[in-house]
Amino acid sequence: MKHLPEHNGADHDEDAVVNPSANPHFNDVLGARLSRRGLLKGGAGAAAMSMLGAFTLAGCNSDDDDDKGTSQPVSALGFTAVAKSQADSVSIASGYTATPVLKLGDPMNAATAAYSNAGTDSGDSFANRVGDHHDGMFWFGVNAAGTGWDASVSSRGLLAMNHENITQLFLHANGPTTVSNVRTVADECIKEMNAHGVSINELVKSGDSYAHVATSSFNRRITALTPIDLSGPVAQSALVVTRYSTSGAATRGTINNCANGNTPWGTYLTCEENWAGYFKRASGDDALRSAAEVTALKRVGIAAGANGSYRWTTATPADASDTRFARWDASVTGASASADFRNAPNTFGWVVEIDPFAPSAAPRKRTALGRFAHEGAWLGPVTAGKPLVWYMGDDSRNEYVYKFVSSANWDAADIGKGYAAGDKYLNSGKLYVARFNADGSGQWIELAFGSNGIGATSANYPFASQADVLVNARLAADVAGATKMDRPEWTAVNPVNGEVYVTLTNNNAANRPVSAVDAANPRHYNDKKTTGADQWGNPNGHILRWREAGSDPAATSFAWDIFVFGARSTADATNVNISALTADNDFSSPDGLFFSRANPGLLWIETDDGAYTDVTNCMLLAAVPGKVGDGGARTVANTGSDGSSKSVATLVGKAPGTLLRRFLVGPKQCELTGLAETPDGETLFANIQHPGEDSASATDSASYGSHWPDGGTARPRSATLVIRKTGGGKIGV
Ligand code: FEO
Ligand code: CA
Ligand code: CA
Repeated sequence: MKHLPEHNGADHDEDAVVNPSANPHFNDVLGARLSRRGLLKGGAGAAAMSMLGAFTLAGCNSDDDDDKGTSQPVSALGFTAVAKSQADSVSIASGYTATPVLKLGDPMNAATAAYSNAGTDSGDSFANRVGDHHDGMFWFGVNAAGTGWDASVSSRGLLAMNHENITQLFLHANGPTTVSNVRTVADECIKEMNAHGVSINELVKSGDSYAHVATSSFNRRITALTPIDLSGPVAQSALVVTRYSTSGAATRGTINNCANGNTPWGTYLTCEENWAGYFKRASGDDALRSAAEVTALKRVGIAAGANGSYRWTTATPADASDTRFARWDASVTGASASADFRNAPNTFGWVVEIDPFAPSAAPRKRTALGRFAHEGAWLGPVTAGKPLVWYMGDDSRNEYVYKFVSSANWDAADIGKGYAAGDKYLNSGKLYVARFNADGSGQWIELAFGSNGIGATSANYPFASQADVLVNARLAADVAGATKMDRPEWTAVNPVNGEVYVTLTNNNAANRPVSAVDAANPRHYNDKKTTGADQWGNPNGHILRWREAGSDPAATSFAWDIFVFGARSTADATNVNISALTADNDFSSPDGLFFSRANPGLLWIETDDGAYTDVTNCMLLAAVPGKVGDGGARTVANTGSDGSSKSVATLVGKAPGTLLRRFLVGPKQCELTGLAETPDGETLFANIQHPGEDSASATDSASYGSHWPDGGTARPRSATLVIRKTGGGKIGV
């Protein structure tokens, strides 16, 4: 028996907000708690201005004619909101066009045949085709010599793009071929491995869109099979020794590449998210492992008895020495770690650096940034002579927000130095996890072996070294007392003031029960579908933001508030639709997040939603947010399905009003994800991922959930949208 939440309204108790003892989770705060007022004061003025300069630094040393000069912060949106839609098409704001390019299966070189889109293309051919499930992206302008990066160039560039996962059904003529759960066609498994990973494609501006350059020597696929080096503190440790690399120096492939990041020296970062699900582990494997190993495997979600998402281990290779299938079996099968793939899961879960201008060099997994379900790794404000900072979400229910601070200080002379620069900035530094206090302050707690309770005698796991801490970053964060969040997805940094945003996409009632709401994750409610179905927990998500103390990205404390809450515009205005969303901007499950640099202050928000899909497909919205502290204290009253209740004090930004607006709605059963822009601000790239993902049969086109983008009876395909203003001009403003 479910009960609707009670809405008592009279909840604005400001005193409660400054009383951290109201929440037992916050009693053991480490270090001095800075006052919220002090933090806010420290953020303004000169420091923020210097960050603006730093953001444009890379583009200012070029005389390329694409450079449109310094942009002023935007203060308004320049389009009319589009309506919510359940059509199998892209709806976009009037005056704009969205052209699909780089569709699933498109050939990336002249030697590869056109895609059949009938499941008949070979597994090997996908090493030269655009992969599936397009996700995070970054645009790298190509310099006039055609040899390297120029951050100011819009007319010619390399679009680096993640291919997170696959819609398995449509990759094969009749879906995957299995007999008693055994994959009997090995080539289908190779195709699936090759459809994962990353693509790098050269594009040139062509009229009102961009054309693929099939002859480009930069075009490249990195797949689940590509040799990749391990680097940083975990490399060549016993934790990553496998039959493939008995020294622990390398692994094969990258998978479940979700969001992304970039570096100021001109390389791409791709982030491994739900890699754990790909591994098999035999049902009796726990007995062959140490207690510590079992703890570690459970914490990342590889239980004994797991089969692996696509059962790649069940395929039989033509050549018995071919380990491309067996390497997904993490069971103890050999005499030592050098003889099997028991440690293969430790070679995934990393941020991976790719130099798009070095197409024959192996990418490098940067282990100093920790191992978890990496959503993205977004670069903080860049200042010469200061450390570099990347912000990272761990996208699972009740996981954490992290940041990495480099040991080396930034030197712009490293621009263009590729992996050598990566070795300098990404192999040594401090990994922190966030604690969000009830009073609106927060701490970054370092995950260092021998400090913050992380060591051989930790209650949950016997850490042996810093390499062990990095491999088991979640266990270390548990010890350190991090705040459990409602699924941290993308991070983004506002170039106007350096404030950092993170999407907390949603949570369910089991993991965010009424009893566990806290200041940073303050809602538990029933988002009742129009069908009458109940959805309890925080199914609509929210976006939280913070300002680092002194606006220093390397600071160890910050002030936070909640920028906006997802909700139906028709939901209860007191405790659910707290941000007063309207029909023009209501949304659910924010995921992708991207601040324009060409239009500073303009924020793009994408949704990956299953809660509001009774009313609308997933969407792309634009916002011009204010700053931390522009709203005020608020108390949210929550009531669960069993009638239990809990009120929680939090801090909520000023309601966005017309400064948040729906720009685009995608086709059926897709998510909007991945965002990149050309430096002139006149082209925005956004991905349509997995349209028609709930289709039932590969051979019955009437069962397809979508036919986008090809239409008719075609199988749906993930693709990249090239978004332009008709006649040119900056997007969204
Ligand atoms: Fe791959 Fe967290 O979305
Ligand atoms: Ca995502
Ligand atoms: Ca997601």
